[in-house]
Amino acid sequence: VSGVSRGVLLIVGLGPGGPDHRTAAAVRAVMEAEVVVGYGPYVDQCADLLDPAQEVVRGAMGEEGARADEALDRAAAGAVVALVSSGDAGVYGMAARTLARAASLADPPRVDVVPGVTAALAAGALLGAPFADDFAVLSLSDLHLEWPVVERRLLGVASSGIALALYNPRSKARTWQLDRVLALLVQVRGAATAVALVHDAGREAEAIERATLGTIDPERVTMRTLLVVAGESGRDVGPWLVALREAAPPVDPAPLRAEAST
Ligand SMILES: C[S@@+](CC[C@H](N)C(=O)[O-])C[C@H]1O[C@@H](n2cnc3c(N)ncnc32)[C@H](O)[C@@H]1O
Repeated sequence: VSGVSRGVLLIVGLGPGGPDHRTAAAVRAVMEAEVVVGYGPYVDQCADLLDPAQEVVRGAMGEEGARADEALDRAAAGAVVALVSSGDAGVYGMAARTLARAASLADPPRVDVVPGVTAALAAGALLGAPFADDFAVLSLSDLHLEWPVVERRLLGVASSGIALALYNPRSKARTWQLDRVLALLVQVRGAATAVALVHDAGREAEAIERATLGTIDPERVTMRTLLVVAGESGRDVGPWLVALREAAPPVDPAPLRAEAST
């Protein structure tokens, strides 16, 4: 026993944008923290909750490892720390990397994860209910993963016919990847498949664009866009895009029978 009082690290998902989509637990975690650590724009996202008595550590893009270490160090030294992320911290956020680092420490502080509303759910609600049937969440980023792996996963789920929520679809530096993804999706799902570009869900600049795989303009997609690809049970109902589970096409049993008899 060291005799030093132990702190705690709360890894907090702030939701997709404004205060309306923040959970009560996330608000409490930020307000009760002595130290708030986060990528600058995420700290800004909870600025309305911060008090001058709190210490705020703003990090830069690409410094995620250093941010995780700083948060863990401060908690290990006895502080109550909130490490803030947008959306849900466990969905392409800071949670996994921070927990992995914590697990490698000889004497880690207590770490809890506070869930948040992830971008796919905020975007889905704006569109209607496109994820009411089965759906998959993928990131198109090849920053930490080789591109062929991204493609293998995409093809695996695209051919299943379920709806797709595509995170990190395009950035200034990553442009050819989305072109490639759209070409693959047209082959597997058909050019008439409905897509939606949801920009800045829950933020001031929130905007929705509807298109199809054949008409989408990739230039409209940015790193603030969540790209939704309707599933085989996706339907337009009035202004809404919804998934009706009962509308999924039946499986043709012939190929299955042929396979069984070989
Ligand atoms: C690194 S991921 C972070 C995801 C976040 N942890 C979450 O759960 O929503 C960043 C990507 O999430 C999507 N995204 C995050 N917030 C968004 C929002 N408010 N509107 C639309 N897309 C968003 C975009 O595709 C963006 O490129």
